[in-house]
Amino acid sequence: MSESVDPDRVKKIETLRQALHYHNHRYYVLDDPEISDAQYDRMMRELVDLETAYPELITSDSPSMRVGAAPLAQFETARHSLPMLSLENGFGEADILEFDLRVKRFLKTTEQIQYTAEPKMDGIAVELVYRSGRLERATTRGDGVNGEVITANVRTIRAVPLVLQDTHDREIPPLLEVRGEVFISKAGFRRLNAERLQLNQPPFANPRNAAAGSLRQLDSRVTALRPLEVFFYGVGMVQGLSQESHWDILCSLRQLGFRINPEIRPNLTIVDVMDFYRRLDANRHDLPYEIDGVVIKVDKLPLQRQLGNTSRSPRWAIAYKFAALQATTRIVSIEVQVGRTGALTPVAHLEPVNVGGVVVSRATLHNEDEIKRKDIRIGDTVFVQRAGDVIPEVVKVVVSRRSGHEKKFRMPATCPVCKSQVDSAETEVAARCINAACPAQIKERVKHFASKAAFDIDGLGEKLIEQLVARNLVGSYADIFHLTAETLSGLDRMGTKSAMNLVRAIEKSKRIRLGRFIYALGIRHVGEHVAKILAGAFHDLNAIQNARTEDLESIDGIGSVVAESVAGFFREAQNRITLDRLLAAGVQIVPDSQPAEGSLTGLVFVLTGTLETLARHAAQQLIEAAGGKVSSTVSRNTDYLVAGKSPGSKLQRAQEFGVKVIDENALKKMLSGSPDQG
Ligand code: IVH
Repeated sequence: MSESVDPDRVKKIETLRQALHYHNHRYYVLDDPEISDAQYDRMMRELVDLETAYPELITSDSPSMRVGAAPLAQFETARHSLPMLSLENGFGEADILEFDLRVKRFLKTTEQIQYTAEPKMDGIAVELVYRSGRLERATTRGDGVNGEVITANVRTIRAVPLVLQDTHDREIPPLLEVRGEVFISKAGFRRLNAERLQLNQPPFANPRNAAAGSLRQLDSRVTALRPLEVFFYGVGMVQGLSQESHWDILCSLRQLGFRINPEIRPNLTIVDVMDFYRRLDANRHDLPYEIDGVVIKVDKLPLQRQLGNTSRSPRWAIAYKFAALQATTRIVSIEVQVGRTGALTPVAHLEPVNVGGVVVSRATLHNEDEIKRKDIRIGDTVFVQRAGDVIPEVVKVVVSRRSGHEKKFRMPATCPVCKSQVDSAETEVAARCINAACPAQIKERVKHFASKAAFDIDGLGEKLIEQLVARNLVGSYADIFHLTAETLSGLDRMGTKSAMNLVRAIEKSKRIRLGRFIYALGIRHVGEHVAKILAGAFHDLNAIQNARTEDLESIDGIGSVVAESVAGFFREAQNRITLDRLLAAGVQIVPDSQPAEGSLTGLVFVLTGTLETLARHAAQQLIEAAGGKVSSTVSRNTDYLVAGKSPGSKLQRAQEFGVKVIDENALKKMLSGSPDQG
């Protein structure tokens, strides 16, 4: 054994590990990478190769260990050194003012109390124990006293430091128990559920359930594939960190490498806290993750100690909850919709109900299996839920409200639109109409083709497409380019002028970037993101058309299902004919990889709030057309924040980073090439 321990090799491995820990932190915690994904992957591969060759040098905190370990038979439990308490809930301003009064009464003071306000993450609470800077154990909250040991699972979360950051001005504490919330973002949730449906697995009801299910896997290799994230918000037992306030603790945690929610604000009076709550409530849909309220904490630790705890919760904190995004209503009927790929989706028509400020009258039921699993019947009283920008869905039936007159639902054996046969293959969840010429499918395909993120044809809306398909004027999206003002002006509610405008818009749409073009084709499993990956990997349509399944599969981010779907699409003779017709009609594909050159070349913009005249999509297109980039998060790399009405938290973040904030008019001036006014 000793002969294989070569000091140079050990040194090499140690250097690689340190570099990977560092770049992992830049990417997943600070959202500010310094190297490309490919460079990172190369380093990781080098480390894994060395560790494979010399397994005796593997350690549990190696960055390569994030892929998960061998499955457990069951979870062990462990006692928290300090109990993990829960929070008292408040539901309105009166409860919060009452809390503030109670705090002052308890402290026998009339002076203003300083609070820290934090988003209340809707995820799963965890505690991580670090000894001498190394992650030793992670547990769930459990019953607050004992939790389940989920160390192998937590190690797979990229934002969790496996070793703490050694900064020159800070000693690594000998013992540090940190607490935080593990969650899945809204986008991660959508992607995960899409994947599950594809694999014939039941979708998760919401991001919280998805996070809980992923964290409680006995096989951590499964957890490693889930898009888990984490924010830390406090500590348990600690040695070697002396702090004055909760905010100081958060700042120290950040320095040690922990991810802290950038929305957290210190030094607030109770009135400021109310403002914070209102702002967060109004902007919560713009946040990339779900929150269910604001946690208000007395900031000074001596005051926290004086206040102490009740048996269940600390007296120094309260959760100020948002109005629920769930409501109950009745299912009036169930309609079956046909999508562009023929998938039949049952949709519930509901008695309209207000769910957190939005009136909901329809909700997706996903597929027949879901209806069976939840035993949903027509006439049932149900819980509906709205989560972010996700389509509302039926969560569960209130069985106690059944009268006995509810009707069971059955998927039709034929397509509700074209009456063709329905394919309910064993391997798929969705039943499908197999007739590619089904008017409903054509309509959806054309709608998708003309949509904002695809050809973006202004004025070609749903009602018009319905007429065009019904009158056999459009049977495939290639027919769009043969429409004339004459034909169009013969349609309902279409004057000569709007017909001419539409023809102009169609003409204008013909120059299109490769990524958008691929997306527009409506290939199954190819959304905007995958289309961009394909465009980036191949650069031209011919290469994509001729790629074999294996070529496609070898691209980072493309799995076997997508690869087969893309290759299958281009094998289909009918699709090749349609492509030829598109090109013959004058569609011109411009490569994605050449960003436009213009007045904004090299500048990074972030948009926030409602702009006065420009839709967000339009602003983004204009910026990109002038050579600029649009990013969704404010970071040090941001050059300008364009702020409209009700700007939200990005504005504060921009101010913190010293990012220049401009309004729509200033943006327009920059677009037109005038020198920067700022
Ligand atoms: S502090 C004793 N801060 O809410 C106080 N909790 O209802 C400990 N949560 O179990 C909690 N975001 O899972 C705190 N910023 C935040 C939080 C937060 C979410 C959860 C946490 C806790 C539950 C209490």
